[in-house]
Amino acid sequence: MKSVAIIGAQWGDEGKGKLTDLLAEKSDLVVRYQGGHNAGHTIWVNGQKTVLHVIPSGILHKHCLSVIGHGVVLEPQNFFNELKNINSITKVTPDNLKVSSSATVITSYHRLLDAARESQGPEKIGTTGKGIGPAYEDKVSRRGIKVKDLLDKDTLIRRLSSGFAEKAILFKHLYQIDIPSIDEEVERLYQYGIQMKDFVTDTFSLIDESARSGKKVLYEGAQGILLDIDYGTYPYVTSSSTAMAGIFTGAGLPQGQLDEVIGVAKAYTTRVGEGPFPTELFDEIGATLQKKGNEIGATTGRKRRCGWLDLPLLRYAIKCSKLTSVALTKVDILSGLPELKVCYAYEIGGKVVDCAYPGINLYQAKPLYREFKSFEDDFTSAPSKEFNEYLEYIESQLGIPVGIYAFGPDRNQIKMRTDFF
Ligand code: GDP
Ligand code: IMO
Ligand code: MG
Repeated sequence: MKSVAIIGAQWGDEGKGKLTDLLAEKSDLVVRYQGGHNAGHTIWVNGQKTVLHVIPSGILHKHCLSVIGHGVVLEPQNFFNELKNINSITKVTPDNLKVSSSATVITSYHRLLDAARESQGPEKIGTTGKGIGPAYEDKVSRRGIKVKDLLDKDTLIRRLSSGFAEKAILFKHLYQIDIPSIDEEVERLYQYGIQMKDFVTDTFSLIDESARSGKKVLYEGAQGILLDIDYGTYPYVTSSSTAMAGIFTGAGLPQGQLDEVIGVAKAYTTRVGEGPFPTELFDEIGATLQKKGNEIGATTGRKRRCGWLDLPLLRYAIKCSKLTSVALTKVDILSGLPELKVCYAYEIGGKVVDCAYPGINLYQAKPLYREFKSFEDDFTSAPSKEFNEYLEYIESQLGIPVGIYAFGPDRNQIKMRTDFF
């Protein structure tokens, strides 16, 4: 296989970072194609934890080229902080990390606007407060700043001035917040541009040339399909195309096709921020999943909401991204629980619905559960009959294989049932 995608199949935090790090071992390129430092991808190697936000999760592998594609929104200060952290573990240079000259820059104004809307606006989304939405808004309204603009002061002044007058009025009169002047922001961003110069390139042609010379490309999604701007649970979504389509728009797929699209799903469901969540648990089991699963956001430190595995959501995710297999993570958290349930369908208005199509009101969905005999595996020996039954049920319901399951945070706490690459 030459190209594989790893995509979150739920509401994010499914374990994409861990899986990407693992598959990066056999990849030549690892490419991020959307989102920004709203992502928090955790990797554990020999007891050492690394949390990546915008830098691809292949970075710990020396042979691997990490690529930040043009669909990503990049906040320069975070980028260099992250680089500094990684440099204490492994040396990162422009030889193993490339940034698209066409990626969109997140400015101070975007971050401040995101925070102001969340704290003062009428409808809270529960964003990560990193300026993601406002940066994508400017991109789409053609007033965004591209990474290449950081390299030329005159262009930077021109691009930053575009739309500034409108924002200044919002900050002054609506939100009553002081903001940096254009001169201050230009100077700050330009200094980052100087530092970033050697990392910046045309990543589309880089991917094209690599794929044509037979290199293996791994695409790393951020967030999850249910947070997609078009497919997700709008308005409680992020502002990018997190589903498979985002690869085409956010990095390019010059090799024409993906050989495998892996949907990463937790063996239960979590969500951070606002929005519907049919299988959410407000009881002891929910609290146990949160505690045992250490369900705390890697970017914002917020507690994640927890609930049972939701197959109607996964059936929908499969259709949105043409998933070819599932990587089921955190099965160890379910092991030994006093009860074990999987939602196989919803009841809505007296009807049974088995796919979370966008026309469905998820607030009205009453989950229908199949109960399982709990398994008590420690995953160091052959899987128990109960665990196999649970996996087989999920596969038969979804119609695609569980190619991988993970049973702990460390790189090698994983079972590959299919060989990728
Ligand atoms: P991502 O955003 O999809 O990369 O996921 P996060 O890193 O935000 O959240 C996943 C969390 O679960 C991290 O703390 C991982 O270290 C951890 N994790 C991943 N897979 C497993 C697993 O199979 N078992 C356990 N116990 N933890 C896991
Ligand atoms: P990874 O890649 C989980 C959520 C936020 C909020 C909504 C919009 O680690 O899976 P934003 O700041 O993007 O405008 O927030 O999306 N969100 C995530 N939830 N994991 C993530 O990333 C997320 N990135 C954004 O909590 O509900
Ligand atoms: Mg995360």
